[in-house]
Amino acid sequence: VERGVMVTEDEINCCVGLGANPDRDGFVTLDACIMDHQFNCGSVAFLERIKHPVSVARRVMEKTPHVMLVGEGAQQFAVAEGFKLEPQELSPDAKKAYEKWLQNSKYEPQINRENVENKGHGPFAPSQIDGEWNHDTIGMVAIDSHGQLGGSCTTSGMGFKMRGRLGDSPIIGAGLYVDGEVGACTATGQGEDVIRVAGSHSVVEMMRQGYGPELACRKIIERIVKIKGDDVKKIQVAFLAINKNGVVGAYAIHKGFSYALKTNTTEKLIAAKSWFS
Ligand code: GLY
Repeated sequence: VERGVMVTEDEINCCVGLGANPDRDGFVTLDACIMDHQFNCGSVAFLERIKHPVSVARRVMEKTPHVMLVGEGAQQFAVAEGFKLEPQELSPDAKKAYEKWLQNSKYEPQINRENVENKGHGPFAPSQIDGEWNHDTIGMVAIDSHGQLGGSCTTSGMGFKMRGRLGDSPIIGAGLYVDGEVGACTATGQGEDVIRVAGSHSVVEMMRQGYGPELACRKIIERIVKIKGDDVKKIQVAFLAINKNGVVGAYAIHKGFSYALKTNTTEKLIAAKSWFS
C-alpha cells in the first residue's frame, strides 16, 4: 500500500504530492497515513518539500513511539531519515492555477474533484476546475495472501485551502482505518465532512456489524447526506472498503467516483454507486 500510492505521489501536475495545487499562500502541504492489520499506524500532516509523505508516515509508524508528526517537526524527522528536501516550487499546472486564483484571491477553497467520467457536467461547476478532473486524494486498501489487511492514504488536500488546514487524509479513523479482524476503509472527498463522522472508522464498524463493504460505505454516506442537508449538492465524499474475506465495495455522494481493483486475475476500473445518480 505504500508503493501503490507512491506512484501517484510521484506524478508531476497531479492532484496528489508536490505537483499539486498549493494553499492560498502558495505553498504545497502534504498529508498521508498508513496502517496495518495490527493497529500499527503512522501519519504526517502539513509536510512541505518531501516527495513521498506516505513513506515518512511509514517511518513514523516503524521508528517512533508516536502516531502523528506535523509541519516542521515532520519535515525535520523526514530529513533525519534521509528523505531529500525538494525545491520549494510549484509544478507548471499548479503555478498556472494559482496565478489564476490570485486574480480574485477569493477565499473559496476548491472542493475535491472526483468526477472522471462526467467531465463538465457533474455537480461541480467546470469553472472550479483547472486541468484534469481527477482524484485529489489517493487511498489504497489491500489484503495479502495470508489474509492480512493494510491501507494507505495520501493527499495535498483541498486546493487553495487556508494555510495550516488539515483534512481527513492524515487522520487515522477519518481518512483511513484498518481492523485486521474486520476490514479496512479509506476516504476521499471533502475532508471536513469525513472527519465529522469519523468516516473510515465508522465504515469499518458497519462491517463489524455484518454489512458488506459497499453497504457499509453507503450507510456512512447516508449519514453525511443527512447532516449536510441541501449543501450535500456542493460536496463530494467517497469511501472505499475491503473486508477480511477480500470483498471490496465503494460508495460516493455523487456519480463519477471510480476505483481500481487489482487481484491475481483482474485489473479493472470500477465506477462506484452513488447517492445522486
Ligand atoms: N480528502 C482530502 C482532504 O480533504 O484534504
